[in-house]
Amino acid sequence: AIRTVHTVAALRDQVRQWRAAGERVALVPTMGALHAGHVALMDAGRALAQRVIVSIFVNPTQFAPTEDLSRYPRTLEADLATADAAGVDLAFVPDAGQMYPEGFATTIALTGPALGLESDFRPTHFAGVATVVAKLLIQSQPDVALFGEKDYQQLQVVSRLVRDLDLPVDIVGVPTVREADGLALSSRNVFLRPEERAAAPALHRALRAAAAAIAEGGDITTAVDEARACVATAGFQLDYLDARHAMTLARVTSHTDGPIRLLVAARIGATRLIDNLAVPN
Ligand code: PAJ
Repeated sequence: AIRTVHTVAALRDQVRQWRAAGERVALVPTMGALHAGHVALMDAGRALAQRVIVSIFVNPTQFAPTEDLSRYPRTLEADLATADAAGVDLAFVPDAGQMYPEGFATTIALTGPALGLESDFRPTHFAGVATVVAKLLIQSQPDVALFGEKDYQQLQVVSRLVRDLDLPVDIVGVPTVREADGLALSSRNVFLRPEERAAAPALHRALRAAAAAIAEGGDITTAVDEARACVATAGFQLDYLDARHAMTLARVTSHTDGPIRLLVAARIGATRLIDNLAVPN
């Protein structure tokens, strides 16, 4: 059965025992409101390690004052049941005081894959993510940590962070889990009104069409423009939709610029959704 700890000391104690027994440890960082996307990360962790830790912490530093921190869904009881059913061994559920002690004064500064896209609309977001993820990795010292491709820029930022700071952990990306109609699972989907929910699969549809067109040799700018129009027609306000290098997230204009990833963020009603898709080579 799953065990829950609230302090770094208790977390480290448990991990130390597992390591002494020669067991590999996987970490799945989350903000709770767990769904099948999170469970896919836990399953991937199970396949790579004997022990799986899920952290549940709604990290205030990655939300801007104008964002949805206060209305972010908090469902701890259900989350612990979900993690338990997924075979997770340990839930790490710190409070804000545990993560950000009095006088907290350290933040990781980022460039590279953190530039542009989300950062154009959420300029402080990735500093908050990178700092809390670095803390979680240092606190739990896992062999492997799992992140969803759903938050593709976050996955690249974390991969870069771990390489740059020599954190001894393998970062593994897990493919996006989707509803039958293509909508990527997200904790924020519960905010969609029925008509917004009905329109939401347009994001994935637009990316699929653009990815297919580019894979067939079509012009990248044309495909991106068409995808932007599709998303707008479906009733979204577009933050960005762009074709980027799959690892560096640098701009691409030609098929020879490297493996291409399409990324989108758009608002419908009061909800902001993101999605992304690989262009097959
Ligand atoms: P959260 O949004 O809870 O997501 C936790 C992890 O689940 C992330 O790695 C995310 O990419 C993954 N995930 C979410 N929806 C998914 C889906 N439909 N398919 C596959 N994976 C999915 O991302 C965060 O929390 C935070 O920024 C965090 C990394 C925990 C730092 O606070």
